[in-house]
Order: sequence, then structure tokens, then C-alpha cells
Amino acid sequence: MTDTMKRIMVTGAAGQIGSELLKVLRKKYGGDNVLAADIQNLPDPELRESGPFEFCDVTKRDVLEAIVRRHDIDTIYHLAAILSANGEKNPRLAWDVNINGTYNILETARDHHLIRVYIPSSIAAFGPETPREATPQETILRPKTIYGVTKVAGELLADYYVQRYNVDVRGSRFPGIISHETPPGGGTTDYAVAIFYEAVKAKRYTCFLRADTRLPMMYMPDCLKSVMDLMEADFSRLRHHADFNLAAMSFTPAELAAEIRKHIPDFACEYLPDFRQAIADSWPMSIDDAAAREEWGWKPDYDLAAMTKDMLTVLTRRQAEGRLNY
Ligand code: NAD
Ligand code: SER
Repeated sequence: MTDTMKRIMVTGAAGQIGSELLKVLRKKYGGDNVLAADIQNLPDPELRESGPFEFCDVTKRDVLEAIVRRHDIDTIYHLAAILSANGEKNPRLAWDVNINGTYNILETARDHHLIRVYIPSSIAAFGPETPREATPQETILRPKTIYGVTKVAGELLADYYVQRYNVDVRGSRFPGIISHETPPGGGTTDYAVAIFYEAVKAKRYTCFLRADTRLPMMYMPDCLKSVMDLMEADFSRLRHHADFNLAAMSFTPAELAAEIRKHIPDFACEYLPDFRQAIADSWPMSIDDAAAREEWGWKPDYDLAAMTKDMLTVLTRRQAEGRLNY
């Protein structure tokens, strides 16, 4: 990120990724320079006090533009979205937030000459016809969820705004993100977070995916690092823009349960697949992220063992302090 970027807005700032990205951005750029925006209040009192907040529905272009103008925003991290499982429950809402919301962000970026915009995509951009192992950067994008459809459209729109209007838009295809601060917001990979809370609370978990469902995943510190690094990358070196494949680890629920059992030997996991199984079955098992590595030096720090150890350390401490809320 260049020195000239100093008035930042984070949409979806109350969500799983937004709430943690907000903390990192406020630490780096100063609380007053990083505006949190969402349709719900921030989950953490510390975040509520560390900088400004605006109620902002990204589907309302006039509201969005007024906020950008009022706060003199020059950079947006656009994290507001409806995720895969919730999207299947309400496809119209997913279309409205993910398509119209993203379009509004890009139009606002164009009209207000913003310096840079971050818009994440997802492994949900892929579909059952995509090669599922070491999924290539350039490949078949025929998702079968409304969420995936909106993510592909978002990637294409971002490229269009780069080529046609010179708007600097960046983003990566996140795998499932695992974290311990704000619960995930209704995705297919949410089991990989819930399993840790239940392991610490009850030593039992009923997983909504089959034991052998392999999916790409990433620990939150790596996710945050990827956002910060991509936003600071030299634009002239980027051949891709908002569609970088990103990988850190891949595992099945059974493998994750076995890793947890190394720390909690009597942890028991049952499997009761629901509608999310079909979504997971349409996504890749592992990702080839060579383009991100070459173009902006991407390299993850956490594998399955390191992530599991850290998650359990944090949640066990929180349980002992009586603060394990999920
Ligand atoms: P989340 O569901 O935890 O948070 C989304 C936030 O958006 C919520 O706080 C919600 O209140 C807000 N929101 C919903 N509708 C809105 C609207 N109309 N206007 C403004 N805000 C609205 O999601 P997340 O996991 O933090 O995801 C952030 C981004 O990362 C999304 O684009 C998502 O697709 C992408 N992503 C996430 C994951 C993951 O595993 N978490 C994986 C791949 C991609
Ligand atoms: N974690 C997200 C989901 O499951 C992937 O984009 O929807």
C-alpha cells in the first residue's frame, strides 16, 4: 500500500474476516483513518471504541456514496457478502448483496477516483467440472451455487473495471477461513471452526460434511497477511487482479478430528451430512497458487498442525476464563 492511502473503509466489518482485518488496519493506519461499515454493530467493544463506524447497506448506492464523500474515503476493503450456505437459503438476497453491492462499490471507486479496492473471491468460484486437485489459476469457472455465480461475476467485473476504467482492484480466491474471534457467517467450511469450539466445550462434534470431504482451508493470520501483502504489491507486477488462487492447507473432517485428538485424546466426531455436502462436493480439494507466489510473493505460515495447536491453545484459555462464546 502506498503512503497516499490513508482514508480506509471496510464493508462487512462486523463479519468473520472484516472484524479482524479492521483491527490490523487500525493498528497500521490509525483508528481514526479506518472506517468500519456494516448493517450490524461490531461484535467487539474494543473495535467499537477504536475508530469510526457507519451503518451502511452496500446495496444502497446513495448511502454508500454519501459515506465515502463524508469520510473522504480513498480505499475500500469490500467484505460485505452473503456466503454459500446462507446464499442457497436466500438466493435473491445473495444476488442483491454480492452482485449489486459489488457493482456499487466499483462504481463508487470509479466516480470518486479511489486509490485501491480489495474484493475477495472464493474457492466457490469453481464448480464440479473444474479439476479438483491442484486446481489451476486459469480453469473452468462453472459454479453451481448462487454464491459461486456471484463470485465469478465479481472477479470478471473487477477485471473489467481495471481494464476499462483504470480502477485498481485486487483480491484472492479465499479457501475456508478458520479463526477464533468472530464466528463464520453461514458458509460450507464453517464446520472447521465449530469443531474446535465443540471439542473444547464438549469433546464431541457432529459434522455436517462427510468424514472424507477434502477442502482447501487457511488460518486467519495467513488470510490477513494475504490481504495486506496483495494490497501493498506493485501493481505493475500483477498480471491477475481480483482472482488470485490462494492455498495454505487441505484436509478432511476426519483428518482435522485426528489432529484435534492429538491434543484432546477423547474427542469424538460424528458425521451427519446435510445440504452443504453437495456444495462441498462441487469445490476443489486443493489449489495451485503459483500465480500469487510469483506475482506478489504469497507464502502461508500455518499448516494443519500449527493451526490446530494455536486454535486449541486460544480456545482452551478462553474456556478456562469462562469466555468461550460461540
Ligand atoms: P461474514 O458472513 O462473516 O461477514 C459478512 C458481513 O457482511 C456481515 O457482518 C454482514 O452483516 C455484512 N453484510 C451482509 N449484508 C450486507 C449489506 N447489504 N451491506 C453491508 N454489509 C452487509 O463473511 P466473511 O467470512 O467475513 O467474508 C468476507 C468476504 O470474504 C466475503 O466476500 C466472502 O465471500 C469472502 N470469503 C470468505 C471465506 C471464509 O471462509 N470466511 C472464504 C472465501 C471467501
Ligand atoms: N467459506 C466460504 C463458504 O463456505 C467459502 O467461500 O461459503
